[in-house]
Amino acid sequence: KKDILILAIESSCDETAAAVVKNGREVLSNVISSQIELHKLYGGVVPEIASRKHIEKINQVIEEALTEAEVTLDDIDAIGVTYGPGLVGALLVGVAEAKAIAYAKKIPLVGVHHIEGHISANYIENKELEPPFLCLVVSGGHTHLVCVKDYGDYEILGRTRDDAAGEAFDKVARAIGLGYPGGPKIDKLSKEGNADAIVFPKAHIEDSPYDFSFSGVKSSVLNYINGCQMKGIEYNRADIAASFQKAVTDVLVENAMHAVQEYGLKKFAIAGGVASNSTLRAAMKNACEENGIEFYYPSPIFCTDNAAMIGVAAYYEYLAGTRHGWDLNAVPNLKL
Ligand code: KG4
Ligand code: ZN
Repeated sequence: KKDILILAIESSCDETAAAVVKNGREVLSNVISSQIELHKLYGGVVPEIASRKHIEKINQVIEEALTEAEVTLDDIDAIGVTYGPGLVGALLVGVAEAKAIAYAKKIPLVGVHHIEGHISANYIENKELEPPFLCLVVSGGHTHLVCVKDYGDYEILGRTRDDAAGEAFDKVARAIGLGYPGGPKIDKLSKEGNADAIVFPKAHIEDSPYDFSFSGVKSSVLNYINGCQMKGIEYNRADIAASFQKAVTDVLVENAMHAVQEYGLKKFAIAGGVASNSTLRAAMKNACEENGIEFYYPSPIFCTDNAAMIGVAAYYEYLAGTRHGWDLNAVPNLKL
């Protein structure tokens, strides 16, 4: 049986990425050109700057991915590309590039949902993992509790009503002067703080046990800081980071464990940038052990945006017969 090689492209936000994936689970190369340093100056991602940078970098990133994998475009069986959700101008760069290569080389074009990519990151290092399982996707733009029924077959059980988990991390980090992106900085600083020092609210949504809300805890942190400043009290940034992180982590763990039991699933995975958070990983590991659930998580490099995860998702879509035409467009609010 012939090997299937997918060249994957990801450009939905501020990472220009390309990867070559063999038979769906083996990553031959995974090249990521991050724009973080550029957007740091503005405290967040500037869409127009992101699009322009993608155009500058994309050919070079693809070249590197092919070279590192020791293949040429002639060896590639299909092109996988993220076509949504994300920033429209950023997505368009990857989609146009993917179409151009697929057309020139006369190979199939497979559009991939970005969240499907994040979930699929779990297949890379856990060769034995197969659906069904529950997956918590926590990133800068998304907080979804997804039942993965089969490859390409998803049911969203819960989602955030307001801010995404990563967005809350980034906003709180900015409020305590840590800069962008805040998630990794809060993760680090929290190790010096006391997670029980301040009680921030944990939102549970009535009648929607799997939904999330993070704007309340974010506001509560801002109020706490304002209160301290008004009273002229110095606040402890590490305690705020640790206590905020605990409030977010507790809710994520509680809802996920509730869902995994309610749906009778035996396997649970996490995905997305926030899934690299050390406190969240440890708490989920404990909770899964207590509940007799197998726990899966990707290495940090496969948690944040990358093209390897898109290549894995594209492989299963390819096997299922998904083929996109030259009219494939970027869809900023694409549904899973
Ligand atoms: O998956 P990702 O790269 O992009 C999106 O699809 O949104 O996620 C980026 C998000 C940012 O909000 C960043 O602050 C957060 O993931 N993040 C973390 C950590 N590393 C990245 N949040 C908490 N702890 C971390 N260690
Ligand atoms: Zn992402």
